Parts: sequence; structure tokens; C-alpha cells
Amino acid sequence: MRDESTRIIESWNEKAAIYSKQRKISEADFLVLDILEKAPHEKILEIGAGSGIIAKKMFDRFGESISHYTDLDASQEFINIARKRLKKYGTCTRIEFICLPMNDYDYPIEKYDAVIAMSVIHHVRRKSIRKLVQSIYRALRENGIFILLEDWAETPKTGTEQDLYTLRKIYGNKGESEYHQHWKYYCDVLKSIGFSHISRKTPRRNIDLEFFDGIKEIEDARRIISRLNKHVRLESRMTLITGIKTNI
Ligand SMILES: C[S@@+](CC[C@H](N)C(=O)[O-])C[C@H]1O[C@@H](n2cnc3c(N)ncnc32)[C@H](O)[C@@H]1O
Repeated sequence: MRDESTRIIESWNEKAAIYSKQRKISEADFLVLDILEKAPHEKILEIGAGSGIIAKKMFDRFGESISHYTDLDASQEFINIARKRLKKYGTCTRIEFICLPMNDYDYPIEKYDAVIAMSVIHHVRRKSIRKLVQSIYRALRENGIFILLEDWAETPKTGTEQDLYTLRKIYGNKGESEYHQHWKYYCDVLKSIGFSHISRKTPRRNIDLEFFDGIKEIEDARRIISRLNKHVRLESRMTLITGIKTNI
């Protein structure tokens, strides 16, 4: 039987093109850029960078103040898409692509000013999160920032958000290996590892119902999709957690 990690990678390879087409810049992305602008950002590592959508915005906004960007993603298809998108921003000395699962990467020590992980940590099981965040902590320089963006890090209370949450669960139960943790858990892990100035915000991200086409044949999903279809614009609340590596 193929192991879980191989299954996830194959599944992302299959979805890379459609995901990249549907992925739109949202409030959550602008918040990440605003935070990064005020933080040290000379050397950046992005984990699970996908299509390179936020990296492109970073290069456009911060220009030469980024001397090095590493894109780490387990999916070769996503790396190919990001490579094309980022081509004009530099050669391999400035932009590095690493195709590996985040748990298998041998993180360099104190290399980066910022590590970004957007909608990707939920692909690792809870028991592996601590070790991963420790590696991220070590990879950061003094005063470096870890920016963690996650979806479904709390149970929604309103109708539309609840519908989206249920839809996501049906999608998840159909074979996606996703381990969404509560935001309090992430904050506790960051704190226990040594991050300080931990802060949490809840920006929104656009949701495209097409993403759930694959579960339309499931009765419950179909019912929810037809309810949600009445909305012109759908958004879900994300959780954005930041922590700083500092001795203070
Ligand atoms: C939901 S997409 C998010 C992409 C991007 N961060 C964004 O905000 O558009 C998840 C990304 O994580 C990558 N991924 C999934 N599991 C991974 C793993 N174990 N290690 C590294 N990347 C992984 C996928 O290939 C995909 O690019």
C-alpha cells in the first residue's frame, strides 16, 4: 500500500493546475505581505509554496530587499508552476526550489529572516508538528518571524461558514489526509518552543466552490453546494499566527 505522504503528493500533483487557476489573492494574503513588509525579510523560506502566488507579490512589493527565497514544496507539479511564475525575478542563486515533504527537509541553521507556511501544516499529523516547528525555529535568525496561516483552525459559528466547514469535512473524509488543529494548539507549540510576541489574526480568504466538484456526487455535499451557490462571493475565516525568534 502506498504510504500517506506519497498519496498526498500524488493528489497535489493532480490538483496543481486547477488549484493554481482558482487560487485568488485575498485579504489573508495582503495581511501576510503587510506583516512581512514590517519584519526582516531579506531571506525567506516558504513551505508548501504552491503556485508561487504570494512569492510573486513579495518580489513585486519588496524588490531587491529580498536577497534569497526558498520554495519548498512536496509536489513537483507545483514547483514547475511556481518556477515559471517566478522566472523573471532571478536565477537559482536568488530563488531556490526544493521538492521535498516538509518533514524530510534538513533545515539549515539560522539562515532565514522569515519562514512562511500557508495552508500546509495541516498536511502533517499532530505528532509531527512540534518537531517541524522546532526545525523552523532553528532555521530562523535572531528576530526572524514565523508566519503560519491555517484554515479551519476553529469551529465556525455562522451559517455560511458552518456550511463551508461541513463541506471541507466531507471532502476530507473522502481521502484527503488533513489534520486541522485548533489555533490554541499552534500558539501553545510556538510558545513552548521559544517563539515570543505570538499574535493571532483572523483574515478572510476567498473560496471557490469548484474546488469541491469532486464530492458533488455525495448527497450532503450537493445540498450544501446548492445552498452556497446562491452567494455571489464566498469567504472563510483563516487563522494567521505569527511568532518572533528573540532572546528577550
Ligand atoms: C493548499 S496548498 C497551499 C499552497 C500555497 N501555500 C497557497 O497558499 O496557495 C498546499 C500546498 O502544500 C504542498 N504540500 C502538501 N503536503 C506537503 C508536505 N508534506 N510538504 C511540503 N509541501 C506539501 C502542496 O503540494 C501544495 O502546494
